[in-house]
Amino acid sequence: MHRPDDICPQPDLLPPLATRPHAAPIYPTSVWQCDSPDQADAILSGQQAGYVYQRDRHPNADLLVAKCLELHGAERAVATSSGMAALSAAVLSQLKTGDDVAVSRLLYGKSLLLFGAECERMGIGSALFDPCDLASFEAALTPRTRLAVVETIANPLVQVADLAVLAKIAHQRNVLLLVDNTFATPYLCRPLELGADLVMESVSKMMNGHSDVMLGLLCGRGAQWARVPLAVSAWGLASGPFECWLAARGLATLHLRMERASANALAAARFLAADPRVVRVDYPGLATHPQHALADRQFGGRFGSMLAFHLPGGRAAAERFIRAATRIPFCPSLGEVSTTLSHPESTSHRGLSPDERATLGISGGTLRLSVGVESAEYVIAALAEGLAGAADNGPVS
Ligand SMILES: Cc1ncc(COP(=O)(O)O)c(C=O)c1O
Repeated sequence: MHRPDDICPQPDLLPPLATRPHAAPIYPTSVWQCDSPDQADAILSGQQAGYVYQRDRHPNADLLVAKCLELHGAERAVATSSGMAALSAAVLSQLKTGDDVAVSRLLYGKSLLLFGAECERMGIGSALFDPCDLASFEAALTPRTRLAVVETIANPLVQVADLAVLAKIAHQRNVLLLVDNTFATPYLCRPLELGADLVMESVSKMMNGHSDVMLGLLCGRGAQWARVPLAVSAWGLASGPFECWLAARGLATLHLRMERASANALAAARFLAADPRVVRVDYPGLATHPQHALADRQFGGRFGSMLAFHLPGGRAAAERFIRAATRIPFCPSLGEVSTTLSHPESTSHRGLSPDERATLGISGGTLRLSVGVESAEYVIAALAEGLAGAADNGPVS
């Protein structure tokens, strides 16, 4: 007869299963029981398939990664604890003291911090370039440049980078191209097929699509992949099982969400562009967008869920718009089923000086819209409410 103290801590005995579950189980276990030291050795050295320790590998990450490999046409991929962890894995696996990195000046703010000040702390030099200006890209490459980083669609003004041309120039100079594909997703763009060497996604955004997961993905191929799994394990960047399980569930509807959100975004952009109370609309699907033809070619006639628009009247007007557009939550993230609004000056780009923001084309009246999967009529009616409120020039209460 065992005492409760000896019964309860026993490892769970799994029920024998005559049938397979249709939905994937979640495997929260941090460690796996091995038959023998030989087996543990074989699994840990990669000679035998299997799991030993969650930080190195777990089934829920493998299930998610298997789908992402196909989506991106990648040979290798790893899930990480966040998008920033995926970018950190790229830094830690590809760069060392004495190397240089060329960085698009239009990267997400935290990415600029990582590839700028943080890399410089490790003795990695960093040079900025304009992703839409090839001469500026070439000028940023030094004999020590090992990696160049660019976003497929930049934040918040949705400039589009010509990935095939950037990859060609990078390779002529023996530089690897890392692409942050978060705004495009593999539904619009598969950068590895255009020549990129590494692709990163913030799975927290459209890939998962429900604002309930923090997760990243790094994809790649060839020799440069060799150090990636080691960097993820040694620097503790790995994903968790529950997050991977949720993201795999979200991924099942990526194509439906992106299709609807892209159609809604085009309708919303056209509506805003036709309104005299709006100074300018940035959306790659509008003929007025400077990279419209490139976007059309590179994304196969769809232009994504992100757009920006600019109100006269600066921050006060943006504030009035946000208060009046009660059906569009103001939350500074993106890529989910609901349409949401962000104000770059006070959130994503608050770390920049007013002059730096002005150079990027961001003013107090700039708003970024992440378009969701509601009906286009709903989104347009919600925007109309915002515009009416913004134009009502009374004092902000
Ligand atoms: C374009 C882009 N890249 C990377 C990141 C970082 O991803 P995460 O928040 O999952 O770390 C973000 C987050 O907003 C982003 O917008």
